[in-house]
Amino acid sequence: MNLQIDSQRIVEELEKLSGYSDVPAPAVTRIVFSDADLNARAYFKGLCEESGLTVREDEVGNTFARWTGSDPSLAAVGTGSHIDAIPHSGRYDGTVGVFGGLEAIRALQRSGYRPKRSIELLLFTSEEPTRFGIGCLGSRMLSGTLTADAAQKLTDSDGKSLDEVRTEAGFDGPLESVELCAGYYDSFVELHIEQGPLLERNNLALGVVTAIAAPSSLRVKIEGDGGHAGAMLMPGRRDAFLAAAELALAVEQAVKSTGAIDTVGTVGVCKVFPGAVNSIPSKCEIEIDVRDIEAARRDGVLRAIHQAAREINARRQTRTSIETINADAPAVCSPKIIGALVRSCDALGFPHQLMVSRAYHDSLFISRIAPVAMLFIRCRGGYSHRPDEYSSPEDIAAGTHALALTLAELSAK
Ligand code: HGY
Ligand code: MN
Ligand code: MN
Repeated sequence: MNLQIDSQRIVEELEKLSGYSDVPAPAVTRIVFSDADLNARAYFKGLCEESGLTVREDEVGNTFARWTGSDPSLAAVGTGSHIDAIPHSGRYDGTVGVFGGLEAIRALQRSGYRPKRSIELLLFTSEEPTRFGIGCLGSRMLSGTLTADAAQKLTDSDGKSLDEVRTEAGFDGPLESVELCAGYYDSFVELHIEQGPLLERNNLALGVVTAIAAPSSLRVKIEGDGGHAGAMLMPGRRDAFLAAAELALAVEQAVKSTGAIDTVGTVGVCKVFPGAVNSIPSKCEIEIDVRDIEAARRDGVLRAIHQAAREINARRQTRTSIETINADAPAVCSPKIIGALVRSCDALGFPHQLMVSRAYHDSLFISRIAPVAMLFIRCRGGYSHRPDEYSSPEDIAAGTHALALTLAELSAK
């Protein structure tokens, strides 16, 4: 199959997409359902329609661009990712999977290939947890991992409900309709930047993902006593921030004590109340992210965190509430799709390695309803979720080319 990937076009489209942002380049901030996000979605839909794809959007904004196959009755082959971006991040996270997926389809169209199974390109809503506090909102709902009821309860940091926000963005209708029926996809492949340093360290452009780590996140609210920073002596203080600081160190201790390199923990959010230099923190809220490729080991860390909170409370006379936002199972990727990706990389002469994804992705939740695998692209320094996130046009083209061949293999029968 003589496929020509228009690498320059992908670069130009990613450049234009990066302009839909609430911060100046090179950073990107594109929060779900913001004007930047809605304009970026409109741009993407226009390109899909230009390529003759049939575009539809569901009640929560997941967007489907379908190249109908010669046998439309067969379950489709899916591919895609997300275009929302956390504050002050980069331009390649997620977007390479959406725009690389589009170019893979266009290259197949140009080659004269015709799929038997339809090929469907997805733009998932709200992969990032920034606005509604939970990651992969759209793919969780598509896979039934997040029910309509539970989704209805989500609010953003302004206290607006998901329903209010999605309706303002132009998406309405019953959330119950989002969930896909079993067997909707025959297979699903996601192209994504690695967001870590392994491929660059091994001097490889591509990685075939065999498993996706199990993510979990906790929201912890700690209450102590406030008071005047000068007049209140140290004995008897019940400083909520210091309790939170101890708990953050306990997270690090619990993670390291598993002895496994695959266990990771992060405290990325910390809000101190009242937040005045001369006022003892009476409340503190932190959010904890713990992941591992083994769910049981991860759950052991979560138990250790709860235990540490109890001990800190006893010692500091503070009160702590811990809300589990999510604690998801890992995903094991499909040998069939891994094989197709490896065959494609080999056929194109692209050296590659098998690897685990430590970041979560929409594929983690689509794996609940279809066989999945992912193809990683090297990123410079392993940097991601930063303005200097970067993948070269050559590596993006290689990933797109291997994806196109894989989509052809999976949709041919
Ligand atoms: O946090 C993650 O793993 C993903 O980048 N949202
Ligand atoms: Mn991300
Ligand atoms: Mn991503």
